[in-house]
Amino acid sequence: MQEKRQRTVVESQAERSEVIFPADANGLGNLFGGRLMQFIDLVGAVAAYRHARATTVVTASMDSLDFVAPVHVGEVLILRASVNRAFRTSMEVGVKAMVEDPKSGELRHVSSAYLTYVAVDEKGNPVPVDCILPETEHQKRRYEDALKRREARSGETERKKRVRKSLETGWYL
Ligand SMILES: CC(C)(COP(=O)(O)OP(=O)(O)OC[C@H]1O[C@@H](n2cnc3c(N)ncnc32)[C@H](O)[C@@H]1OP(=O)(O)O)[C@@H](O)C(=O)NCCC(=O)NCCS
Repeated sequence: MQEKRQRTVVESQAERSEVIFPADANGLGNLFGGRLMQFIDLVGAVAAYRHARATTVVTASMDSLDFVAPVHVGEVLILRASVNRAFRTSMEVGVKAMVEDPKSGELRHVSSAYLTYVAVDEKGNPVPVDCILPETEHQKRRYEDALKRREARSGETERKKRVRKSLETGWYL
């Protein structure tokens, strides 16, 4: 089996900027939550893809997505994604979204999320990924916290897998 390498967080960090247009707004003139989720998923996938260097990555789950403050039409949204920790084939990615005031350059925190991506081969089978080498204090904290979140998440993931296996397809109203 190929030995795992260590890659730093900055090697795979990703950033995306968007000017918000009316087509992405809800009835209040604020960015629609589903569109923000799409931006979050896409920038997170780029970070995971850069780290994994696999055929591709798929989103396995998104947890604790917080909409902290609204984003208004015309504002500049900036999203940054970092791989907090890599496991066997999965990676936890943290995404933070901010709005930048074009005049002052001041940033307003609008959303944060944690997502898990899995590296896969051409057939969609999970493949191993390299480890993360945290360097700064913040990266080390996020690295430790990612393991606690994985432990909290994995019991629930296993439980849901068991339930899905035991149920036949249907709505179960
Ligand atoms: C994600 C997927 C590849 C996992 O397949 P699987 O058969 O459960 O594979 P495994 O049991 O070997 O798990 C592989 C990894 O995924 C992780 N995983 C699986 N389901 C997960 C979930 N719901 N949340 C977080 N991690 C999950 C496992 O913990 C494991 O991580 P590890 O290898 O680092 O320990 C599979 O469920 C899938 O293809 N889902 C659809 C993905 C998709 O279409 N996304 C939207 C479009 S990108």
